[in-house]
Amino acid sequence: MATAPPPHPYLHTPTPESVPAISPAELVVAREGPAPPVVVDLRAARERRLARLPGDLSIPLSELPSRWAEVPADRPVVVYCQFGGTARRGAQFLREHGLAHVALLEGGLDEYSRIVDPTIARYSPGGETDGWVLQQFPRPETGCLAYLVGDLASGEAAVLDPGIDPAPYLAAVESLGLKLRSIVETHTHADHLAGHAALHERTGAAIVVSHRSPAQYPHRLLTEGDSVEVGNQALMAWETPGHTSDHLTLRLHDKAFTGDTLLIGSCGRTDLGDGSPRQLWESLTTKLLTLPDDTEIFPAHYGSRHSLPDRYVSTVGFERATNEALRQPDWPSFEKYMTEGWPPKPSSFDEIVRRNLSA
Ligand SMILES: [Fe+2]
Repeated sequence: MATAPPPHPYLHTPTPESVPAISPAELVVAREGPAPPVVVDLRAARERRLARLPGDLSIPLSELPSRWAEVPADRPVVVYCQFGGTARRGAQFLREHGLAHVALLEGGLDEYSRIVDPTIARYSPGGETDGWVLQQFPRPETGCLAYLVGDLASGEAAVLDPGIDPAPYLAAVESLGLKLRSIVETHTHADHLAGHAALHERTGAAIVVSHRSPAQYPHRLLTEGDSVEVGNQALMAWETPGHTSDHLTLRLHDKAFTGDTLLIGSCGRTDLGDGSPRQLWESLTTKLLTLPDDTEIFPAHYGSRHSLPDRYVSTVGFERATNEALRQPDWPSFEKYMTEGWPPKPSSFDEIVRRNLSA
């Protein structure tokens, strides 16, 4: 009979007091199962206004000593906070008070948004008074991703690469208590109708594009190093041509909104508009790949529609190691990768570009 392996020397031996953790994906399965857990949010009310899990019970950690009896003792319980630290303390408290089946949500709401539901806003640890909030807007029908960035102190917001229907962005700024100031197009889109005009019409927010854009509508121009001010936050513009000549990457703290310059698993093709494989190679190797490995990457496309993974966010380090385009060892290999094996360009794309640039 085989004997159990010895415990790994790097791991602390689990004790009866250890708090079990449930991953975001496991929580989804558990909530759809026959015995769904009670989900308890231990964050303060101001954070709940920014993001929360539907159908949860709110008991801030500070109120747990007086309210813990509200948590049903006869059901499994999952407690959560933004990153997991507060939840650990709350779970320990509940277990000490006799609740046997308590787990914490691993990585908190931040990880849940990354893995399961990107429409749940993420926000900085500064909270409501001195930080940012970030929300992704996936459009499965087109495989596009748009973004909202908000500054919590001033209440100002910007939207990047909105889809043609302004409703989701208008609803988000309203629910987050923000005012939309800027609409940024990372580049001239060829594969879908852009939403800047509709959103501008509803909000009056300025449309912001690269100085290289041939846009005919009223807009503000960005050049290398310019910023889109969002209250106390700033989206710094980096010219990253290649997918198109007017392509911008926008940077916010340790995050980069890479448009179609860098996608998850690949990069945007260069033959749909006025792109250039050589320019894309330069943009990737002299700019994006100089960012630290833990820089978060937020692309403009995702999903099987574009032969990409169904993931919404990545990091420079992960892409450096796994991305097909980035793993090309030199310029000749990259040029071959960018010019061979792509499906034919759809005939509608020239007309889409014309409409996206029109006044
Ligand atoms: Fe594009």
